[in-house]
Amino acid sequence: MIGMFVRANLKPALTLWYNNVVMISKSTIFTRPWNGIIDCYRTYLPVSNKTPVVTLNEGNTPLVYAPHITKLCNMPGLAVYLKVEGANPTGSFKDRGMTVAVSKAVEMKSKAIICASTGNTSASAAAYAARARANGFKMDCFVLVPKGYVALGKLSQAMIYGAKVIQVKGNFDEALKLVKEIVEKYPVTLVNSVNPFRIEGQKTAAFEVCEQLGRVPDVLAIPVGNAGNITAYWKGFCEYTRDTRPKMIGFEASGAAPIVQNKIIEKPETVATAIRIGNPASWKQAVNAAGESSGFIDCVTDDEIIEAYKLLHQKEGIACEPASAASVAGLLKSAKLKKIQPESTVVCVLTGNGLKDPDTAIKSSEQEKLEVAPDLKEITKLLGF
Ligand SMILES: Cc1ncc(COP(=O)(O)O)c(C=O)c1O
Repeated sequence: MIGMFVRANLKPALTLWYNNVVMISKSTIFTRPWNGIIDCYRTYLPVSNKTPVVTLNEGNTPLVYAPHITKLCNMPGLAVYLKVEGANPTGSFKDRGMTVAVSKAVEMKSKAIICASTGNTSASAAAYAARARANGFKMDCFVLVPKGYVALGKLSQAMIYGAKVIQVKGNFDEALKLVKEIVEKYPVTLVNSVNPFRIEGQKTAAFEVCEQLGRVPDVLAIPVGNAGNITAYWKGFCEYTRDTRPKMIGFEASGAAPIVQNKIIEKPETVATAIRIGNPASWKQAVNAAGESSGFIDCVTDDEIIEAYKLLHQKEGIACEPASAASVAGLLKSAKLKKIQPESTVVCVLTGNGLKDPDTAIKSSEQEKLEVAPDLKEITKLLGF
């Protein structure tokens, strides 16, 4: 095999082109560049040939087997895979939804987009607005973020891509309420996940997971913040096949767990700032996804999140941001409580790139900062030789 596979019963539009190569038969190899999720899944998306596609070639992210986490689950026949969404162009899963949302905004002649964000949506919106401008369209981007609670990498992305960034002295939920009011009064398109085009684009990750595994997983573990992504994955799995569907298991942070507590959290708090949300916009849809799939929504503590975050980096060699690690923390918790069946194939979604939040990485590494003169003896001593 040439670093990829194609199942015999694939629907043609769902054929993935791994490493830009697809093997059609043992003797015939065609090559084709990867051109993003709209190009690959066009027939499954609300686009036509009149839609000006704004893409950064998002999608086609790696699905990586996780031997250490598999072992930690301590269940016969269980296998854990990681869907590394941090490999998207702006470093998060948001790009899948943003390519569709911004393409449709351009098609509808919108000249500006706006979002509230815990960071990643703002980075993605800013990048796709820049790309729309590169394609010759006028497209301003405005973002409202909670002051002091956005990881440095994300804030810097939104700024350098050219968005107008407004830091609100409040939380995400307050910022979202404000942008909803703004779009009612002014000519600007909302690109939060309440925009249905975002969900359409994000559902393509479920298609990819099935294609990469060669089957539908038994369990999908995913962090839950505003609950758009769990909604999108469930939609994707439901569209992919009627035969089998995974149990959807979603994880909020304990200090920001409105769905688990069944009440709005006025002052959500967690180290995982991306999911520091107290009143998720897609609350009902997330509950439906868990219910219809015989899954559940639970929460994990900040300590459990950081423990999983460190494990992912140090034992698997896979980087992600703290919020992403909630999926693995939740899986480990659920396996311990025997809420997962043996022999299950589990996919944990790692939603964002580790470089987004260097402060938490440095703090969590617990490494001493070693500084020395350029002296061989001193250095080799420190190295333990
Ligand atoms: C890295 C990361 N993980 C998880 C989430 C939660 O996704 P959703 O808000 O769709 O539930 C977000 C949302 O911003 C995120 O940025």
